[in-house]
Amino acid sequence: MRRKVIAGNWKMNNDLQQSVTLIEELKNSLAEKALNCDVIICPPFTSLYEAKKLIEGSLIKLGAQNMFYEDEGAFTGEVSAPMLKSVGCEYVILGHSERRTIFGEKDEMINKKVKKALAHNLKPILCVGETLEEREKDVTEKVVKRQIEKGLNDVTPDEILNVIIAYEPVWAIGTGKTATPQQAQEVHAFIRKLLASMYSKDFAAMIPIQYGGSVKPDNAKELLSQKDIDGALVGGACLKADSFIGIIEAA
Ligand code: PGA
Repeated sequence: MRRKVIAGNWKMNNDLQQSVTLIEELKNSLAEKALNCDVIICPPFTSLYEAKKLIEGSLIKLGAQNMFYEDEGAFTGEVSAPMLKSVGCEYVILGHSERRTIFGEKDEMINKKVKKALAHNLKPILCVGETLEEREKDVTEKVVKRQIEKGLNDVTPDEILNVIIAYEPVWAIGTGKTATPQQAQEVHAFIRKLLASMYSKDFAAMIPIQYGGSVKPDNAKELLSQKDIDGALVGGACLKADSFIGIIEAA
């Protein structure tokens, strides 16, 4: 069976000292617990190197929040897959809706990033999800299908098992509005069927599909108990050790 994956997307929060404090708290609280899930933290770039040192010997894994699709060169302000590997990242969030809307990232660019991450043995967490307008127009499946097909263009069967999909309805991110477990499950089942048609039923059954969008300790259990929801990508609630741990314990 699929193991659940709980990832914390810190976004642009926590300077170095704040990062150290939060990781120490997480590490201490998780130390005595038997975990039912994988736990990933995705701090800002400036904290990754220190984070890697701090999580040594714990069960916490490290991810970044973005990267560029070239290895090196004249790309001012960007960070590459080899750079993320060199500071100990295992995962990278790609195609987050904030990257898509605020920074204009398109499916084609996200696909280049996914391919490059995989080429360097970084596991992409590929985010997809519809806006409120798209949900109201009843085009959720169409949008998610496009994002997945384009985002995974040329990703081989060998590579796909290193990918995590995160379904994050844009209207639920940071708004306090969560998709109901049924709404989320419906889209997750749709994504799994789509992955089965792109790869195979067996492969689709192995790919983790996380839900993201205002996941909190008090709604996590019901969301995570849905058949096709294999974990959570957590924003706001991962910035406090207590609430992130509450979600980890719900898995
Ligand atoms: P949120 O963010 O939990 O604050 O809604 C989730 C995300 O953007 O990954």
